[in-house]
Amino acid sequence: MKVKKPKLENPIFCAIDTPDLQKALSWGNLIKLNVGGLKVGLEFFSSNGPKGVSDLSNLIKLPIFLDLKFHDIPNTVSKAIQGVLPLRPFMLNVHASGGISMMQSAIDTVNDFSIKNNSKRSLVLGVTLLTSLDNKDLNAFGLDIKSQDYVLKLASLVKKAGLDGVVCSPFEVDIIRAECGDDFIILTPGVRPMQSSLDDQKRVLTPKAALQNGADFIVIGRPITQSPDPEKSSRDILNEIK
Ligand code: C5P
Repeated sequence: MKVKKPKLENPIFCAIDTPDLQKALSWGNLIKLNVGGLKVGLEFFSSNGPKGVSDLSNLIKLPIFLDLKFHDIPNTVSKAIQGVLPLRPFMLNVHASGGISMMQSAIDTVNDFSIKNNSKRSLVLGVTLLTSLDNKDLNAFGLDIKSQDYVLKLASLVKKAGLDGVVCSPFEVDIIRAECGDDFIILTPGVRPMQSSLDDQKRVLTPKAALQNGADFIVIGRPITQSPDPEKSSRDILNEIK
């Protein structure tokens, strides 16, 4: 079941990276008018589980991107996804390097859930290559390929498997857009507003540049959550991209 690429009014997903539910709720309340959704990842999920995600989603009422980057055999990924679908995430993801059968099993699982429950289908994205890895890491795996070529190969595989799009570095957006077309969703972390600290992100673009390169959604965490004034920082980013 193909779903039309959704166009959120606001493409910013804030990465709610904390093990503390109260802190997550307080960030959510401060920024909810300035972001399009919340990205909930392993740090939050490991401490708060599905109940924490449903509390966050029920109280803040923003679309949730469940960034759990599933990576296992097809049957296990399918069963793990079945466990989180009752949370009705707007988007979730799996590692593309888990292979085409695993990705097909992931998309079949979300399709079945949506048909059975007569509900909107969660979008499923494939993570290409983590931005913390580079050519040297690929060589260490025994792969004689440049990271950009590897990312493009994985993006094509994601498309072939029938997923909705990819997570990639802001520097790969244009080549993936050219290869995979306009209907393909591209979401990118590694985004930093002008004059903000890089933290541990190595190659970054501004939110505006990432969107101009063709990204549909951008993920921004610490420049908002670690700011002395998260409301203002998120509002400034929204104004920067308008
Ligand atoms: O705080 P910051 O803006 O760097 O947060 C980026 C978020 O995106 C984090 O939650 C991180 O786990 C996630 N991410 C990333 N690079 C990837 C995939 C996910 O930074 N390749």
